[in-house]
Amino acid sequence: MNQMYQQYAAQYAEAVKDNDYNAEFERPTTLAMLDNAIADLHGNKVLDIGCGSGEYIAELRARGATVTAMDISEQMVDLVQQRFAGDAKVSCYQNDAAQGLAQEQSGQYDLILSSLMVHYIEDQHALFAECARVLKPNGMLLMSTHNPVADAELSPSGNYFSRELLTVGSLMNGLVAPHRDSYILVTG
Ligand SMILES: C[S@@+](CC[C@H](N)C(=O)[O-])C[C@H]1O[C@@H](n2cnc3c(N)ncnc32)[C@H](O)[C@@H]1O
Repeated sequence: MNQMYQQYAAQYAEAVKDNDYNAEFERPTTLAMLDNAIADLHGNKVLDIGCGSGEYIAELRARGATVTAMDISEQMVDLVQQRFAGDAKVSCYQNDAAQGLAQEQSGQYDLILSSLMVHYIEDQHALFAECARVLKPNGMLLMSTHNPVADAELSPSGNYFSRELLTVGSLMNGLVAPHRDSYILVTG
């Protein structure tokens, strides 16, 4: 399991509020795609997989959605439960998406949003199958991930087309977080 989002959950929560990568680049890009596809989420049920500290939950709630969120990190789940305490339209629980979405009924979500999480999943086919199961017919899946060009620089083999586990330190908010494990998405 990736330790970074457990040991440094609070620091991550602070960093993603206004940092360059998440707040200035990834979130605006992903939210622009969301707003182009479906601007008003009133009456919509949304599943946020790998919700982190809940930046997207806040965005989804601002657009009217009812949100179920999950994260593998109990610390992130705690942060979200505290942040949205009293909001009956947000629920959040601990779940390893690599093991599926067992607590979720089939055919219930209008949208699944999962930002910057899928690269931590080894068997992405299984996760996509689970997403298809819990989405309504014509439901939407919106995912973001690292650009594989950037990840390939960290590849032990140096082969852009290989699919391998990366284990490197990453600098976050002045802290070196030692366990950032992710899979290069490009398959050979
Ligand atoms: C880069 S953070 C993104 C958080 C949030 N989506 C955001 O954009 O601010 C990745 C999140 O995915 C979670 N995560 C990693 N592997 C996971 C898994 N197998 N199942 C569920 N969540 C996972 C981590 O704990 C972390 O909170």
